[in-house]
Amino acid sequence: MQTLLVTGGAGFIGANFVLQARKAQWANIVNLDKLTYASNLQTLAELQDDPNYCFIQGDISNFELVSYLLAQYQPDAVINFAAESHVDRSIFNPQDFIQTNIVGTFQFLEANRAYWQKLTPQRQQQFRFLHVSTDEVYGSLNPNDPPFKEDTPYAPNSPYAASKAGADHLVRAYHHTYTLPTLTTNCSNNYGPFQFPEKLIPLTILNALDGKPLPIYGDGQNIRDWLYVSDHCDALRVVLREGCIGETYNIGGTNEQTNLAVVERICAILDELAPKSDLNYSSLITFIKDRPGHDRRYAIDCNKINQNLGWQPKENFESGLLKTIQWYLNNSAWVDYVRTGAYQNWMKQNYEQR
Ligand code: NAD
Ligand code: TYD
Repeated sequence: MQTLLVTGGAGFIGANFVLQARKAQWANIVNLDKLTYASNLQTLAELQDDPNYCFIQGDISNFELVSYLLAQYQPDAVINFAAESHVDRSIFNPQDFIQTNIVGTFQFLEANRAYWQKLTPQRQQQFRFLHVSTDEVYGSLNPNDPPFKEDTPYAPNSPYAASKAGADHLVRAYHHTYTLPTLTTNCSNNYGPFQFPEKLIPLTILNALDGKPLPIYGDGQNIRDWLYVSDHCDALRVVLREGCIGETYNIGGTNEQTNLAVVERICAILDELAPKSDLNYSSLITFIKDRPGHDRRYAIDCNKINQNLGWQPKENFESGLLKTIQWYLNNSAWVDYVRTGAYQNWMKQNYEQR
């Protein structure tokens, strides 16, 4: 069985990936995570006694720690999920994004380069450095533009997107210059279990259940391409196993939705699953001041990963959204835990001062 060093494995996508990999028993996992506000070790509680899983609290920017972990665990591949990931937070406080997403990725690449250069030729050939990135690096599409392809020029618009673009360029350069066997994926918006409730879908579900306003930025006509998280995790496994070294792969749900349509659909499902006698959830929808620099439309062309590696999503938006809403309804202990003081402070900062 392969050993993987996973970073950011206590966050939303990383934890889903770790749980899936351990459930299917296709990899031993070493999980390095700084445990920022976005993480939650409760997500991984079921792996507590798993001898093929271990957790280390630490920062990808810590060259000595990463070098030690690589030497100690001798991974066959690494997957870099670790990042500051929320656009709105990047607008209030870009510093952390530059530090983790750019400087952190650089230090992490440096430690990996040193490790990889000392491997035997056979292990060097097998090693992979998979960097998990976003479609936001491509900027914003007009209504009739074709979806993003792997060769769409980078045009990041938010500090988050710019910091991820910087990281992607470093990964590319480490392959080009040092022949480090890298792979990069650029994925669209994910949703599903264990997502921190500052992002649109979990925020809407939980605010609705609490009878609170459902905030929609601007006119609600911004478009995102939504992908269920386990489909993203499957795609990463496929890219890791079969992707061409040095290449990038776009991953998406071919599922463009306006924000207003997403929120209205969540309301309609909740009207069925958790009806309130005195209101329809959609009456809570509230239009608020737009996000500065708000990208209008993202859409992904997944032909490359589909045709070259045979991946396609299993869930459609309806089935994925239903599973997600049911998960949040059934996991109130997890939800209560993440909505701590720090979360309350964020809600005040982002919504009360608009
Ligand atoms: P997340 O914010 O839920 O989790 C990020 C994790 O990284 C957290 O557990 C956090 O503690 C950890 N982390 C942050 N800084 C770190 C550091 N310096 N060292 C070690 N660990 C650190 O993010 P996510 O939604 O799970 O996204 C994971 C990756 O996927 C990110 O790189 C993100 O850019 C990318 N991505 C996310 C989406 C999405 O819709 N969520 C879509 C495409 C790509
Ligand atoms: P988000 O989940 O923050 O993801 P991203 O900005 O990375 O795409 O937001 C998804 C979309 O929803 C985005 O267009 C912003 C919008 N949005 C709202 O309208 N209201 C909200 O309260 C939030 C958090 C997001």
